[in-house]
Amino acid sequence: MNATDIKTVEDYQKLVEKLNQYSHDYYVLDQETVTDKEYDVLYQQLLKIEASHPDWVRPDSPSKRVGGEVLSGFEKVTHEIPMLSLSNAFNLEELQAFDDRNQKAVGHPVTYVCELKIDGLSISLRYENGVFVQGATRGNGTVGEDITANLRTVKSIPLRLKTDFTGEVRGECYMPKSSFEQLNDKREAEGQAVFANPRNAAAGSLRQLNTKVTASRNLTVFLYQLLREEPVTSQEEALESLKQLGFRVNPDRTVTQSMAAIWTFIEHMTEKRHHLPYEIDGIVLKVNDVADQQKIGFTVKGPKWAIAYKFPADIKETVVREVRWTVGRTGVVTPTAIMAPVHLAGTIVQRASLHNVDLIVAKDIRIGDTVVVHKAGDIIPEVTHVVLEKRPKDSQPLEIPKTCPACHEPLTHLKEEVALRCMNPNCPAQLVEGLSHFVSRNAMNMTGIGPRLITQLYQAGYVKSLTDLYRLDEEKLVSLPGIKEKSAKKVLDALKDSRKRPLNAVLFGLGIRHVGAKAARLIAEHFGTMDAITHATMEEVEQIDGVGTIIAESLTTFFSLPESIEMVKEFEKIGLTLTLKKEAVDTSRSNVFRNKTIVLTGKLANYTRPELKQLLTDLGADVTGSVSKKTDIVIAGEDAGSKLEKAEQLNVSIWDEKQLEARLKDLNHE
Ligand code: IVH
Repeated sequence: MNATDIKTVEDYQKLVEKLNQYSHDYYVLDQETVTDKEYDVLYQQLLKIEASHPDWVRPDSPSKRVGGEVLSGFEKVTHEIPMLSLSNAFNLEELQAFDDRNQKAVGHPVTYVCELKIDGLSISLRYENGVFVQGATRGNGTVGEDITANLRTVKSIPLRLKTDFTGEVRGECYMPKSSFEQLNDKREAEGQAVFANPRNAAAGSLRQLNTKVTASRNLTVFLYQLLREEPVTSQEEALESLKQLGFRVNPDRTVTQSMAAIWTFIEHMTEKRHHLPYEIDGIVLKVNDVADQQKIGFTVKGPKWAIAYKFPADIKETVVREVRWTVGRTGVVTPTAIMAPVHLAGTIVQRASLHNVDLIVAKDIRIGDTVVVHKAGDIIPEVTHVVLEKRPKDSQPLEIPKTCPACHEPLTHLKEEVALRCMNPNCPAQLVEGLSHFVSRNAMNMTGIGPRLITQLYQAGYVKSLTDLYRLDEEKLVSLPGIKEKSAKKVLDALKDSRKRPLNAVLFGLGIRHVGAKAARLIAEHFGTMDAITHATMEEVEQIDGVGTIIAESLTTFFSLPESIEMVKEFEKIGLTLTLKKEAVDTSRSNVFRNKTIVLTGKLANYTRPELKQLLTDLGADVTGSVSKKTDIVIAGEDAGSKLEKAEQLNVSIWDEKQLEARLKDLNHE
């Protein structure tokens, strides 16, 4: 289906359903049935069609998931059926006692469903006639908060089900370990406080008043409870029905009457949990049969027919041998504890980031201290606290550096940040980090050039800036220890190939604060050329969907520096790609658009303004903002206003979108 095929509301409906199916395959079933690129093409068509037919937009359109609503607060939601909690068990004996009580209550052996205890936040989702109408937090169990707008951005939560189900489902919303890691890496590089674990990160992400932030956090869900008018007869049936309805249900479970089998499952998961992509903190045992559950009953706190076995906390003691301070690309200075190696949650740990000065001061971590370590998100080693009883008598509080460990310039502790920062733009550590970023995969993708070679090149005095990289030759390279002719050639090839990297990769490679790979792509697509980007105003950058004030400010500040402009000029001389590659359009040939002054107005169905502007500019037209006597053509879409009126007054040629497309088609046939 291409854009021009979407003519009717039915075509639009089909497109929404198709995209939702792809999304369901990916986010619920973990199956990729379409490539990112194919999805993106269809999604862009959807946006276009929605822009020109706002009355068609369905509440379950994928465009409704991007967030953007800014909430003033969260309304209260009363849970008709309270969201209870579970009592805990910490060993086999306690589980056996639980089973004994249940058998006594029902008078026969009991079957249990053992599920993973996902370490996230409980959520409740209400559907009416198959449509997602409300999402809430647990709160105090009776009253929670309405987080519907935030949960809408969670892609594994269906906005519309395949059946007209009315009822409530409950489960856990969580942040996968990898997303947690990435988020914290980003926050640390930006000098922001890191989240202690994925659970806190998920909680912080769900309670965002700006739902765009929630949308960017990659949250997901597992559902495990089904509340509907006609009750289910067992927990197994509930899980199966949830799956049939289109919800994401955790596949790891066991159904058995045997405590020995349950313990085997627990032991198996105790090991496997370190390899799962999300955090679990235990196993929940639930009586399967609902009739049995009713016989066993509830306490005020929760059901007596379910219990949570909690894994013992994976913690170890070790000794801090040294604290190292390192400078990142943006000048943030981060302390790392170097410790005596210990075995922890599946790996040997000997270093842990101490994140920032505030944290060291709060925890009062000193060299020689015995500390307790655990793994945040089951992956990132972290010092939880100092064992004060074991502190050596002569220990001294850790000295916080006043000068940069790399360039020895004074460090700054900005008020709004938790980080210490080296403000020297010529700091060697920052330069080396910046160079390493420039050559990395998502930037200039120079295979064969890594942080080690960058450090060597810097120390040899060959490379001090991004443009110096392109001044390397074989002679310089082979003069470095360990670099032979063959690897020198590889480096030179990588440098040559990097000239073909697209504009967005070059922009990302500059390492401008807050301008990540995605923002770089959006900015490059919007402006089309590096020249336009360097001249863009904050307002223009801010207008781009998905780019906020912080990014806009950082980008424009960067390009307000003469040295940045100088570097771009050098890039041009070197031959880097500084324009977005479009399908080759032969501008040398005469065409109806060449040398014409054109004004665009109103909503166009098949083009975004910047897209059409770029296309016409490529054809040699001058696309301007206001209608005057000099204007040759006004292209008017739907709801065109004053510009159209003015064009009529001045007798300027007015084309509608159909006429425009006809001329464009003619060009292709010429
Ligand atoms: S069943 C009546 N099943 O653990 C409560 N809970 O204290 C029914 N949790 O608040 C909860 N995974 O947030 C259940 N597979 C699972 C779970 C699970 C995580 C959380 C849930 C609940 C807490 C128990």
